[in-house]
Amino acid sequence: MKDASPAAAPLEIFLSDYTPPAYLVDTVELVFKLHPTATRVLSKIAFRPNPEATDRTFYLHGEQLKLISATIDGKDANAKITDLGLTAQAPDAPFVFEAEVEISPQTNTALEGLYMSNGMYCTQCEAEGFRKITYYPDRPDVMGVFTVTIEGSEPVKLSNGNDLGGGKWHDPWPKPAYLFALVAGDLVNHPDTFNTMSGKQVELNIWVRKGDLNKCAFGMDALKRSMKWDEEVYGREYDLDLFNIVAVDDFNMGAMENKGLNIFNSSAVLASPETSTDANFERIEAIIAHEYFHNWTGNRITCRDWFQLCLKEGLTVYRDSQFTADERSPAVKRIEDVIALRARQFREDNGPLAHPVRPESFVEINNFYTATVYEKGAEVIGMLKTLIGDEAYYKGCDLYFTRHDGQACTIEDWLACFEEVTGRDLTQFKLWYSQAGTPRVAVKEAWSEGTYTLTFTQDTPPTPGQDVKDPKVIPIAVGLLNDAGEEVHATRICEMTDVVHAFRFTGLDAKPVPSINRGFSAPIILEQDQDNATRAFLLAHDTDPFNKWEAGRALARDVMIRMVTEDATPDQAYLDALLAVARDDTLDPAFKALAFSTPSADDIAQALFDGGVTPDPTKIYNTTQTLRQSVAHAMQDTLPRIYAEMQVDGPFSPDAEAAGKRAWGNVALSLLTRLDGGAQARTQFESADNMTQQLSALGALLRAEVGEEASNAFCEQWKDDRLVIDKWFAMQVSYAKLDAAPATAKALTNHPDFDMTNPNRFRAVFGALAGNTAGFHSPDGSGYALLADWLIKLDAKNPQTAARMSTAFETWKRYDADRQAMMREALERMKAASNLSGDLLEMVTRILNA
Ligand code: PHE
Ligand code: ZN
Repeated sequence: MKDASPAAAPLEIFLSDYTPPAYLVDTVELVFKLHPTATRVLSKIAFRPNPEATDRTFYLHGEQLKLISATIDGKDANAKITDLGLTAQAPDAPFVFEAEVEISPQTNTALEGLYMSNGMYCTQCEAEGFRKITYYPDRPDVMGVFTVTIEGSEPVKLSNGNDLGGGKWHDPWPKPAYLFALVAGDLVNHPDTFNTMSGKQVELNIWVRKGDLNKCAFGMDALKRSMKWDEEVYGREYDLDLFNIVAVDDFNMGAMENKGLNIFNSSAVLASPETSTDANFERIEAIIAHEYFHNWTGNRITCRDWFQLCLKEGLTVYRDSQFTADERSPAVKRIEDVIALRARQFREDNGPLAHPVRPESFVEINNFYTATVYEKGAEVIGMLKTLIGDEAYYKGCDLYFTRHDGQACTIEDWLACFEEVTGRDLTQFKLWYSQAGTPRVAVKEAWSEGTYTLTFTQDTPPTPGQDVKDPKVIPIAVGLLNDAGEEVHATRICEMTDVVHAFRFTGLDAKPVPSINRGFSAPIILEQDQDNATRAFLLAHDTDPFNKWEAGRALARDVMIRMVTEDATPDQAYLDALLAVARDDTLDPAFKALAFSTPSADDIAQALFDGGVTPDPTKIYNTTQTLRQSVAHAMQDTLPRIYAEMQVDGPFSPDAEAAGKRAWGNVALSLLTRLDGGAQARTQFESADNMTQQLSALGALLRAEVGEEASNAFCEQWKDDRLVIDKWFAMQVSYAKLDAAPATAKALTNHPDFDMTNPNRFRAVFGALAGNTAGFHSPDGSGYALLADWLIKLDAKNPQTAARMSTAFETWKRYDADRQAMMREALERMKAASNLSGDLLEMVTRILNA
């Protein structure tokens, strides 16, 4: 029966080829007879012809399924089976399709479909995992009402919607198959309740393994705050009587928004002061919010097809960033987001993997869960809000929610709501969805008789498949300051629409100092002739907190680049400016910590490359060390005072204020460690009662190369906590000196606790290797070779995670001929590996072809 021909050439799918489904689904009844290697799935699906379709081919997706039987209206369906699905003759009228298939969750190491993690059954269906569970039209524009029965000896059995008892579940909301979920295992719950704005009581649970029950309280609190926030800010209420979250150890991503049954990577939900850092708490809060917010932006209104992924992801990331800004500090959140955007999305957008926020074609959709779809997608929403204003934004959202509730939508549907409430034509704005690449905006200034003019010129470099770009609409927030640092012109949005666009500011007494792209109002690279004195001035005086930070960052970047290219010594102006920041008591400690962070090695490498210089990772590493050493010396007298003042007494709280104090205190500690041989850090390491303090101290010691003893003690202390041991694995590779990282990573793969099938553990080692620029690009090529070896090994088990991690190679064209040759060799070797997955093949091909 099975098509025995070798795997067909990977199929490229195009947005322009979209056609409506031939048949729609009304109801789905599923019965799962659980067994580790022989689970039976019985399905009964009520289909009806789609009046909007012309084609009547009855085709169901299905992969790696053993078909036991298939009937249409009770008669043998005479189904034709291939590796990818099933076809049969179906009536041109409503009918019932029934099937029984067998699957093997135990041997499913791809973690897609139904699989097992530590003895527990769980599912991951987005994007196309449901087809590994049973035959189904596995596309998001087919929505059905699911009833699920789970048979098995597991004490806890969960699915979407409402609990009917006895392992039976009913979800009243029609949903696409990618939102289906099932969990069964020996779990315990952390329960709570939430009263919604209309007075309904919702039962909430976080389900975990027994030993993790003490790590649920923070996640539950974050969930309740998210529910409240979405009611208050977007007017969105929860729509079931029950909301379940489950923590699983083996998960490819952060978490998944399955209707009423969110499944989380345990690293994205479990938290305790002893085992989680402040950064972990912030991330967990954001992911809980993100998945919860999907209930409206993603579930109630879903995507018509996977090209529209940003419709739910860009919007939901934007919503979770608003939430974090409201719960914590808007300035700090914006700075953190921009650091991450530049590190991941700008890097992607300026390399071989660049693609539009809404891609026009793909081979493997799993490869498009990218920083561009998510983070640039969120930036696009932020720009829309800036352009039309808050009131129109929320009005447009309300229209979207009422008009499209229960539908599978497109970006056009979304934008039409805003065109309608504003009367504005968003055609040019839509280019943000279709054109890849980070726009570069050059700025020139002119001053004459009270009028100050800023002239912007935009240019977006070619990206794969897109040689020529049209000018986009770019909202550039500009404020003007006088010499005394007072604001002489409040923030104004300069709406750039042409290639060259001038903006005039009149009635000024003297030539002002401009503060451009405040709040990072547009995701662009600003090319501005600015001297370091002006940057230091803005770092001291800008009234916009983002641009205040940005000025310091530009200063640091310039200083580092001149150290690398001209062997310059660290600029005194930069050291003085940092000292002024440290002494300014009006500043938030969290801001100070961010102002002291230097651009990453990867940032500097890209900046050098953009400036026509081939980056040398070794030199960048040494420069960073020299600069930090100079900062430590310049701050020598101040550091002990800062450190003492930033100690937080009393019981641990992960709130933004306490976290900010710890962050700034630990910046001081890492600088101090460069001067005191690690004395203070050792004391902190030994007395710490929370993970932030313990891990910061360990990092400082490792960076100063005096951390071996502490590292061993840490491993011994936490050997039974897998999430902490992930940190231990990652730390050693991240903090390995210069080109020592590949050998360190290799040694760790022989550690008894290294487990390549656990994505968190694999990422701890190899994500850290990819992130250690000098180590990964070690001149002998050992970093490239090691990663390629392991990606080939991992690909055989888990193609998604292997493909995702191949992005480590996306910057290969930046480097010298030797490194390029070695990276090309590593990529070619992966490409030639036998039985390579379509996922990894698509990635290495795209990386090589650019
Ligand atoms: N939809 C998930 C989210 O962003 C991400 C995800 C995608 C998880 C694919 C698993 C698989 O919230
Ligand atoms: Zn999401």
